[in-house]
Amino acid sequence: MTHKVQVARSIIALDRALTRIRRGGKVALVPTMGALHKGHLALVRHARRRAEKVIVSIFVNPAQFGPQEDLDSYPRTFARDVASLAKLDVDLVWAPGADVMYPPGFATRIVPEGAALAGLEDRFRPHFFAGVATVVAKLFIQCRPDFAIFGEKDYQQLQVVTRLARDLDLPLKVVGMPTIREPDGLALSSRNVYLTPQERQAAPALFRVLTGCAEKISSGGAILDVVAEGGREIAQAGFALDYLEARHAETLMPIASPQDGPIRLLVAARIGKTRLIDNIAV
Ligand code: PAJ
Repeated sequence: MTHKVQVARSIIALDRALTRIRRGGKVALVPTMGALHKGHLALVRHARRRAEKVIVSIFVNPAQFGPQEDLDSYPRTFARDVASLAKLDVDLVWAPGADVMYPPGFATRIVPEGAALAGLEDRFRPHFFAGVATVVAKLFIQCRPDFAIFGEKDYQQLQVVTRLARDLDLPLKVVGMPTIREPDGLALSSRNVYLTPQERQAAPALFRVLTGCAEKISSGGAILDVVAEGGREIAQAGFALDYLEARHAETLMPIASPQDGPIRLLVAARIGKTRLIDNIAV
């Protein structure tokens, strides 16, 4: 059986669809930039379980890309994405153009603090979280969901968005879902298509090192030593390391020992032209 899914591209079309959708029960929103993989689809499946109605947004958000970043080459697979979402019985795909999201004269940005200034992704992508917070706030206001589903894959983003919803009194619950991985541990990412076969072979080192570090910290290893050694292993695997850090799992502040709270290990590293991020709980 062929399923069909409605696609809205303008605010008017979205509002019309929402009137119908909201009559059907609770709404869950899954924000994405498209190029959907099994990680995204796991979020959509979860949305299906959480709420009667599911909206998936597909918008490659120029505001969160730096001038030297991969906005132009970011993978775009819209027709295939819509086909996958139709199979999962999604109620609406919200796919505004940049002119709809940021019409001429657009002049308002949300600049998050707290976790957005933790010195992790923000250190290497200074405009990233203002771009994410602005578009996510707009998506929340546009779609008015009861639940918004995000991946732990982008752990700092999940903390920023959770705080944003709370700080702006947005009446929705932000839900974080575990990272979906390849069998060899590599976290699924739209950017994995950039990897050459050789880089792809090296890439699982990130998860391997994270797992090793988490075990050593759990069994009493000194955090700074464990992380320093992990950084060397990542470099040996062919990566240029941006950061490997142990942080408090909720505040993302530096943490000296497991007694001081739950720990999250976060990594970002570049291989060839590709920048990968990953994280795990200790
Ligand atoms: P994008 O990178 O397309 O990711 C959309 C959502 O999928 C995010 O919540 C992300 O954490 C989640 N995700 C990505 N890879 C995953 C994996 N392997 N397992 C589980 N979830 C995964 O993140 C963004 O888009 C944008 O910043 C966005 C929030 C849409 C704002 O523009």
